[in-house]
Formats: sequence, structure tokens, C-alpha cells
Amino acid sequence: MAEFTVTRLHPSLGAEISGIDLGRPIDRATETALAAALAEHLALVFRDQSLTPQQYLAAATAFGPPMRQHYSQHNMPDFPDIGLVWHRNGQRPAERWHTDHTNRERPPLATVLHGIEIPSEGGATSVANMRAAYAALPEAERRQLRSRRTVNSLDSGKTDTRPEDREKYGAPILHPMVRTHPVHGTDAVYFHITKTLYIEGMDPEASRAYLSDLLGRMIRPEIVYTHRWRKGDVLVIDNRATMHRAHGDYDPRESRILWRIIVEGDRPMLM
Ligand SMILES: [Fe+2]
Repeated sequence: MAEFTVTRLHPSLGAEISGIDLGRPIDRATETALAAALAEHLALVFRDQSLTPQQYLAAATAFGPPMRQHYSQHNMPDFPDIGLVWHRNGQRPAERWHTDHTNRERPPLATVLHGIEIPSEGGATSVANMRAAYAALPEAERRQLRSRRTVNSLDSGKTDTRPEDREKYGAPILHPMVRTHPVHGTDAVYFHITKTLYIEGMDPEASRAYLSDLLGRMIRPEIVYTHRWRKGDVLVIDNRATMHRAHGDYDPRESRILWRIIVEGDRPMLM
């Protein structure tokens, strides 16, 4: 097994992993240790990596099998399991708190990002600990959330979704609003505000208003790690117990390119 060190980056979540070159094969024991570190720290940072698309895909596979991303117009033509996060191809930075691809029956357990071109200022990615967010809610609200489910589909506000993607990935999928982490065993709040069509038993407007209010109350600086990108960083985000957002506070004349891979996980369950 590769020897690596884990250094906390924030009191609530986030750790830097050093001593691992992601460009080289990762053995099974190291994979297991990294999976445990991810479940514990929820965001792992590997600095100074220099990866080809093939090496990057192989490294991401240490966390799970790569899944195809549903806005296929942004996927790399030769490596369609890598999505390009890049404002110059018409994407706007995802500035609202969310977790990825909740319209899938088995949403990605992790989102992996690799910094390719980084603006000189701004453009960070923030990650919030939704395990801590859940624990801080009043008991009555925790109980209520445990009985609720969201109905998920592709984002309603996107106008450039390809018809074939809508066909493949648009069918409504139900998820619990609190899910139990399959490795860590703890519960976390789980939803994607713009992929939620509605909460079962509530109308769409009331659902959106409630989720927005809930986010406002849950997300506090104490539970947020903000990753300031350097070229060569790899950030692995545990989607089972976090939400994340991009910061669009950079000069749009500068380039910001992240390569994104999502890896498949379990169907969210509340135990
Ligand atoms: Fe995202």
C-alpha cells in the first residue's frame, strides 16, 4: 500500500492527501484507505498532479466506475466520461449549492475535478458538510426531513439540453431527503434544488421555497471548505454527504477549465 499523509484543511471537512501520484496505478489497499478518508473528510485534495485524460480516468476509478454525464455537449469528444467545466462553451458557473446528478437512480458517490486552467483570482469551489448541517437542525425538523422524498429530473432552467439527453436522463427519480452514508454510517441532508421538481406531497413552488429557506439556514461558514484552485489540483468531493458550488467571481476574459469525472455510487437510502 502507498504511504500517504492526511492533513486537515478546515475544522469541519476537507483534507489534503500527499504522497500519492495519481498518474500511477493505485493498489487495492490504497483504494480502500482513500475511500475511508473520503467518507471521513468528505473532500480530498491532491496537489501538483499532471495527468493525461487516460491517467485521470484511471485515477478516478479508484473511487468508483466513471459515469456518463448528462449534458453531453460538454463532454470531451475523445473521452466522453470527462466533462469540461468551462464558461467559454456557454456554461455558467454553478453558483447555487447542489449535489450532482440527482436525476439518476444511482447518483455519483463522488465528483472529481482536475484544475487545468485557473484564473489569477477567484473561481474557487466551495464544499459544505451536509452531515454537520443535518446534525445542527432542530430535532423536529430532522424527524420531518427523514420522512420526505424529492422527485428529481434534469434542471428545468437549462435551454441547451440535447433531446437525446432529456430522453435518457429526464425520467423522474425519487430520493430520500436524508441519506445514510454507506461507508461512514451517518446521515446527511440530500437534495438538488434545481433538479427537484417537487417534494412529495408539496407543490413545486412551496417545495422550492422550502428548499431555498433550508439551504439558507443550513449553510454556515463553519461547515464550508473553500478550495482555491491551483493548476494540477485534483479535488474529490463525496456527494453522499456534501453540497458544493462554484464561485463565478473571476474575470471572464481569463480561462477556467476543470476536467470533471463523476463516479457511480449506491442508490441513496435512509437506514
Ligand atoms: Fe456540481
